[in-house]
Amino acid sequence: MNILIAYASRYGTTAKCAKILEEKLAEKGHEVTVADVKANNRIDPSAFDLIAVGGSFVAFRMNSFVTNFVKRNLKTLLEKKVGVFMCGADNIWEEEIKKGFPSELLDKAAAKAYFGYEMNWEKMNPLVRSMMQKASKTTEAVSKINTDNIYKFAEEITS
Ligand SMILES: Cc1cc2nc3c(=O)[nH]c(=O)nc-3n(C[C@H](O)[C@H](O)[C@H](O)COP(=O)(O)O)c2cc1C
Repeated sequence: MNILIAYASRYGTTAKCAKILEEKLAEKGHEVTVADVKANNRIDPSAFDLIAVGGSFVAFRMNSFVTNFVKRNLKTLLEKKVGVFMCGADNIWEEEIKKGFPSELLDKAAAKAYFGYEMNWEKMNPLVRSMMQKASKTTEAVSKINTDNIYKFAEEITS
């Protein structure tokens, strides 16, 4: 299949997850295009058989470049096979994903998945870093990308 992974990433985590997903799908023999919809908002999903779309929750909202991509292309996405994924540190991804994507897209998605999260301190501005380190009670690097969930998602969207 000709697959598009459309994502945006504030601090780099979703970008890493998109890469892991790309590698897994390519390994399964699919042709995969990865598009950062912040840098490339003209990418046209109509040229693909399957679209995996996702981003992270930051400050209680889905990445706005992802929500705008979905809004702009909703008609096409509803006509295609789609998978929807998200990253986030809060333990309520099933609620967050409902806030982040239109219900009609989630209803028709072949898979919905949670890919985990990171705290990439070096990418945050000092104020946000200090606030988040206090809230997380650590200054250590945090990387909790859920590779199993990414692989399971790759399986579900292509079966
Ligand atoms: C300032 C800030 C706010 C955040 N707010 C949320 C949130 O509301 N809900 C959540 O689940 N995760 C939240 N997170 C965790 C991020 O989703 C997590 O760091 C994720 O890995 C970021 O992915 P990205 O780098 O692809 O944007 C927040 C992280 C930061 C730094």
